[in-house]
Amino acid sequence: MKKEELKELLKDMSLKEKIGQMLQLMGVFFLEDADSVLTGPWQSLGIEEEDIRTAGSILGTYGADTLMKIQKAYMEKQPHHIPMLFMMDVIHGMKTIFPAPLGLGAAFDPELAERCAAVAAKEASVSGLHVVFSPMADLVRDARWGRVMESTGEDPYLNGRYAQAQVKGFQGEDMGQPYKVCSCIKHFAAYGGAEAGRDYNTVELSEHTLRDFYLPAYKAGIDAKAGMVMTSFNTVNGIPASTNRWLMRDILREEMGFDGVLISDFSAIMETIAHGYSADEKDAAKKALEAGVDIDMMTGVYAGNLCKLVEEGEVEEAQIDECVLRILELKNRLGLFENPYKDADPKKEKTVVLCEEHRRLAREAAAKSFVLLKNEGILPLDATKKIAFIGPYTNNKEIISSWAVTGNVSDCVTMEEAAREVLDTVHTTYHAGSPMLENEYELIGFGGILAHDVSEAEQQKMLAEAVAAAKEADIVIMPLGEHYQQSGEASSRAMIDVPEVQMRLLREVAKVNENIVVVLFSGRPLDIRELSRTAKAVLEVWFPGTEGGHAIMDVLTGKVNPSGKLSMSFPYCVGQIPVHYDAYSTGRPDLEGKKEKFRSKYQDIPNEPLYPFGYGLSYTTYEISPVSLSSEVLTDEGLVEASVKIKNTGKAAGTEVVQLYIQDITASVVRPVKELKGFQKVELAPGEEKSVTFVIEEPMLRFLRADGTVGSEEGKFHLWIGCDSMTENMAELQYSCKRK
Ligand code: BGC
Repeated sequence: MKKEELKELLKDMSLKEKIGQMLQLMGVFFLEDADSVLTGPWQSLGIEEEDIRTAGSILGTYGADTLMKIQKAYMEKQPHHIPMLFMMDVIHGMKTIFPAPLGLGAAFDPELAERCAAVAAKEASVSGLHVVFSPMADLVRDARWGRVMESTGEDPYLNGRYAQAQVKGFQGEDMGQPYKVCSCIKHFAAYGGAEAGRDYNTVELSEHTLRDFYLPAYKAGIDAKAGMVMTSFNTVNGIPASTNRWLMRDILREEMGFDGVLISDFSAIMETIAHGYSADEKDAAKKALEAGVDIDMMTGVYAGNLCKLVEEGEVEEAQIDECVLRILELKNRLGLFENPYKDADPKKEKTVVLCEEHRRLAREAAAKSFVLLKNEGILPLDATKKIAFIGPYTNNKEIISSWAVTGNVSDCVTMEEAAREVLDTVHTTYHAGSPMLENEYELIGFGGILAHDVSEAEQQKMLAEAVAAAKEADIVIMPLGEHYQQSGEASSRAMIDVPEVQMRLLREVAKVNENIVVVLFSGRPLDIRELSRTAKAVLEVWFPGTEGGHAIMDVLTGKVNPSGKLSMSFPYCVGQIPVHYDAYSTGRPDLEGKKEKFRSKYQDIPNEPLYPFGYGLSYTTYEISPVSLSSEVLTDEGLVEASVKIKNTGKAAGTEVVQLYIQDITASVVRPVKELKGFQKVELAPGEEKSVTFVIEEPMLRFLRADGTVGSEEGKFHLWIGCDSMTENMAELQYSCKRK
């Protein structure tokens, strides 16, 4: 449809019908047994039958057959036969589940993330979906927050590259094309800054930090033309994001140029009442509308109040028209007016979903996301040895994370299943060794408190069997980690350790066998001081997804050489949080090796994290030459090439992520001690040497100044090229501005 036609359509719609477009409900309202829903608890939302008839979108239901039926029945009743939008959380895959985003970030490979998003889009679109609530572009610095798992990490540049790549993967050049869906960037803004890592908690940031660190990744996704943005639950500058006019109108729409559909997070408009910001639902509806929020997710706040507000002259109908036109435009971009079912196809759904090609990509992505944190020569595995697998993840299919709601654990390949394909069947043994969690650990899942009761006697038996197997083995592989429900939404933890019951298992095994390799499953950086002291090797595998088992065995056996790098620092301990590599410089930095009192440091722990951002080992070793610059002076009219030579000095072929960091050492506002400005993945055969060059140009030196302008300033810069954020391989660069 042409824009003019959409406007004509809008003119013809009744106010009630328009407001319907701004209501999003769950799919359950549209299923055959919807009557029970209407008379049930949802009635308290104030949703009437007429609202359902005109609701513009639904979330949380998928499946080509179901959605086609819903669409058909809905369009017959909708006064103008306007199609409905189907949305869903497809966070790291639809049915083929890729590694959790924090792991995908650790691959330092946006192009890989783009391919994964394209596959997710294909599976989602044949299953009838039009919009995916992804990527989450929130910057994260606090590992206590359960949702760090959904982020690609602590760095604005890396997150931006990923946001851009994923939007491209989901939408392609044109989201109306086959197998493409609309991408929704979330959660605008700064949701990742929840105080003390407690989900839904207040975010307290200076505007400078908000703009400097938190906004760039959303902006990158918006520049990539994401069709939707989701608000966040938190306040920004004391005002809940979903009713924050400054944030949504001035920053998101005016400054960032976002012209797509803005949706509230789940009931977030309503929650502004609990925040003590809106007096009641009517007030909340008015404020959210004024902020330009187009769709109210899952409450009746808009549906129940906007009509009244217009009738009473409290809001202009034109404000509603503005929102509805954006929603119609999105439906039009997706081509729904011409084909309301888009790619929904029950037959294709069966062949496309989880096909071999998709599984292959899941295996590749997972292997690339793993980070080898420690290795004292024990990996890759010597398959001629006697190996015992001991740990609750040995044969556990729950490896797709709590935010893979469309995925099925039954489709996952466990470590044991994969190991049986490649290891000796006589000398290899498999044991859970312990339950995942202590019986006392209270885990509240979707359906209430999750039971995990294993009797004391059973636990003793598991332990005894594991210890006996460890005694017999040459090498013990211990798949340990968080329960998948310990991270994700509403899964904050104050103690970010491996569950104690598993640590007890590790200690007992270590008493009889010191050749321990821990394969660590987690949705966040954990406090692994003791674990990494005890084990000879630690491989972080996050929640690796459907092909997790295969990918882990690929890496353990050396078929794939690990190349992942942490996209979020592993703290030394919780007391150090927030710990991130790009901290602002202080006036009293700790001086390495000098024991001075009046320095910015702790008495009892180091300043440095246990494993820093950008860190990850390989089965080979690399040597990097000092940085060489094509010129020591950069001007705004030219460029400088910064190069290193990197050599594979070990015996295995490998891929290294070469990272470029810059520090502005005299600026009109204090700058971070290091900022990632580029990275390149370099493949090297044993003995091979390659040159890696980064082009340094003036825009890379820009930053946000105190007066709100963004620009670069003359002076001296430090520039590092190395293999992690602690690199000391540094050169100095002078920047001078010619065009004054
Ligand atoms: C989450 C969002 C999600 C939405 C819809 C909310 O609770 O914060 O990230 O997209 O639910 O499922």
